[in-house]
Amino acid sequence: MPTLNLYGPEFQADPHGTLRLAREQNWCASTPIGIAVLRHQEVQALLNHRQFRTPGADLLAMQGFGQGAMADAMRSFLLNTEGADHDRVRRLVTHAFTTRSVDAFRPRMRAIAHELLEAAQAGRAEFDFMVDFADRYAWQILCEFVGIPAGALMQIQSWNADIGLMFGLSVAEHAPRIEAALTGLYAFIDELAAELRQSPGENLLSALVSVENAGDLLTKDELRAMAITLMSAGSSTVTNQLGNAIVTLSQHPDQWRLLAAERDLVTQAVEELIRFSPSVILGVPRIASDDLSWNRLEVQRGACFLPVVGSANRDAAVFEQADRFDITRKVERGQPGHLAFGGGIHYCLGAALARAELQEALPILAERLTTLELAGPGEWLPPTEAVYGPIKLPLRAVASPD
Ligand code: HEM
Repeated sequence: MPTLNLYGPEFQADPHGTLRLAREQNWCASTPIGIAVLRHQEVQALLNHRQFRTPGADLLAMQGFGQGAMADAMRSFLLNTEGADHDRVRRLVTHAFTTRSVDAFRPRMRAIAHELLEAAQAGRAEFDFMVDFADRYAWQILCEFVGIPAGALMQIQSWNADIGLMFGLSVAEHAPRIEAALTGLYAFIDELAAELRQSPGENLLSALVSVENAGDLLTKDELRAMAITLMSAGSSTVTNQLGNAIVTLSQHPDQWRLLAAERDLVTQAVEELIRFSPSVILGVPRIASDDLSWNRLEVQRGACFLPVVGSANRDAAVFEQADRFDITRKVERGQPGHLAFGGGIHYCLGAALARAELQEALPILAERLTTLELAGPGEWLPPTEAVYGPIKLPLRAVASPD
């Protein structure tokens, strides 16, 4: 099996190019953290395979935190639950998190996009797309959609950042901060849930609380875990997807002009952007729950596999001219699509919301910015992070003539 050094300079500088070379050699490659699965068919099969599970608290246990508040929290996140526990919570949440509820929120998405862009462009020759637009847009929508009051936004972001440290490899160093954030966020959610039970609003948490009232129960712990999951799964994924979209479109000015001229292309354009430059490249690792034989590999219980969705999305066996970015690309019904939202039982719960956020923001950006001109290379997260994209992206504010 070929090797793929995820921490080497080639992958860090050019993840998609490096993955192409590896994918052309074999469907899998050995990496320092497990076996990377690189081709569409095999990635899809891995995501659907019921003898592979998500990592749960394995990484915490390896660092000596297999028990306690952090491990309990980690095991309770939807992505880390399996079987009947997962199915029950997922069914309840899906009941509340509907395409209708997302569509009803589209006018707010447009209003937020206009407001942010106006402020970002006001009297300035350039602005930072990530800081002034993408991050604020994703967070403001997420909080309003979920039902977090605007005044709590900064506190929530700070707790979310601290809780995020739990997914890394320096947990011992940060344990007190992480535990304090969990305690703070739990108390906040308990109080908010009690308020929304008394006077519900048009938001996801109100719907989840009423699901809880209607006999089929989401427990207090499940509600807390869901709130944390939504904050972490629904923020930086969208922020970075927006950043990746703007970088890709700035490198393809003809496609930017086409999108500005033909708004009806926006749905296809968003799918193509997510396929071509997804904010999740390596995917959520899968762990073999038993010894098994898979794709001519003898797999031992506990072995780690990476469903490299960013590689599957460029597989020439599935996508014609896969390295070509083309917003008119159509995936016909019944044909396999991109895998940026994962697959199987853990398929991204927020995919409709994420798509809508991009579909609403891009036409407004295209309307207000005639040309997309980067004012520098920006700063990037390493592609080995769970989420990949720019942290800073200076953009020249070339406004469209009115
Ligand atoms: C472009 C933005 C997004 C991307 C690329 C993305 C990607 C993913 C991926 C790769 C997974 C794991 C799927 C698997 O391994 O099979 C996932 C799961 C999940 N995502 Fe997203 N996501 C995005 C936005 C969102 C948003 C906006 C929300 C909610 C507000 C969300 C909530 C979730 C949840 C709850 C799960 C776990 C589902 C389960 O375990 O059943 N995501 N997402």
